[in-house]
Amino acid sequence: MLAHVPVLLDEVVEMLSPRNGGVYFDGTFGGGGYTRSILESAKCTVVGCDRDQRVLCAANELREKYGNNFKFSHAKFSDVEQILKNYAIAKLDGIVLDLGVSNFQLNDPSRGFSFRHSGPLSMEMGLCRKSAMDIIHEYSEQQLADIIYEYGEERFSRKIAKNIKKNLEKIKNTEDFANIIRICVKKTGRTDPATKTFQAIRICVNEELVELKAILDLLPILLNPGGRVVVVSFHSLEDRIIKTHFKQLCDDKNCADHRFCLLTKKPLIPSRSEVLANPKSRSAKLRGICKV
Ligand SMILES: C[S@@+](CC[C@H](N)C(=O)[O-])C[C@H]1O[C@@H](n2cnc3c(N)ncnc32)[C@H](O)[C@@H]1O
Repeated sequence: MLAHVPVLLDEVVEMLSPRNGGVYFDGTFGGGGYTRSILESAKCTVVGCDRDQRVLCAANELREKYGNNFKFSHAKFSDVEQILKNYAIAKLDGIVLDLGVSNFQLNDPSRGFSFRHSGPLSMEMGLCRKSAMDIIHEYSEQQLADIIYEYGEERFSRKIAKNIKKNLEKIKNTEDFANIIRICVKKTGRTDPATKTFQAIRICVNEELVELKAILDLLPILLNPGGRVVVVSFHSLEDRIIKTHFKQLCDDKNCADHRFCLLTKKPLIPSRSEVLANPKSRSAKLRGICKV
């Protein structure tokens, strides 16, 4: 079992409304929480995908239980067309994406996602071109500052980038990296000053926004009429992209063969009890859209 508590699980499955005979794509399989619930709620097929090899054990468990109704690909969700082609699936009745990092990734020091543990400066979810260490060495001070500003919304980005470049040889692991950042940012409240920069570099390593935009662009050709898309995101950059993209799809009245309508005017957020039970869910936002 991989330790990950699925966020907004009931809301996701209710909005997806799986039906018998339907085919669904879980692009961020993780510990398999969403996939399992979808398979429990109807006699349907789920194609799961994750870029992280570590989820293979959870995928194998589900394969044993659900046989042919569950298929898994170790791939990025932007490759969804090729994945479906491999299984001779033409169109989907629903897509779910849960864009956060899994707990088993965050809490494993050897993956280098967290400033709380000392580990290699990697931050790779899997199938990446560069590690965080490659990026801080290969990118210029200006490029680093831009990434930290854009993906981390960090106002001390220039100071941080300068300090990273100045101390490159001293940065051997996540702990060194976090300390170099902490020197540049005034601590306010309980948030660690390294939080925003770690988020920015992680987004860059995993090309997270590129991935998201790529699958959103494919939605019109991926879905059957009535097909639904449900996306859970964890920071404002992602939510903004999803909101804008969904709105554009719904406003595009010219394409008679791919009209969409919103399932959520405002995003759904976790209940107080969910946040209490799983504090990591507090920043989650769920948006849904349906192909008419
Ligand atoms: C928050 S977890 C998903 C948890 C899952 N919903 C569950 O119930 O267990 C996010 C997962 O998405 C994967 N992931 C992130 N970006 C991806 C991408 N572009 N393509 C494929 N998998 C991705 C990560 O490796 C991680 O395992």
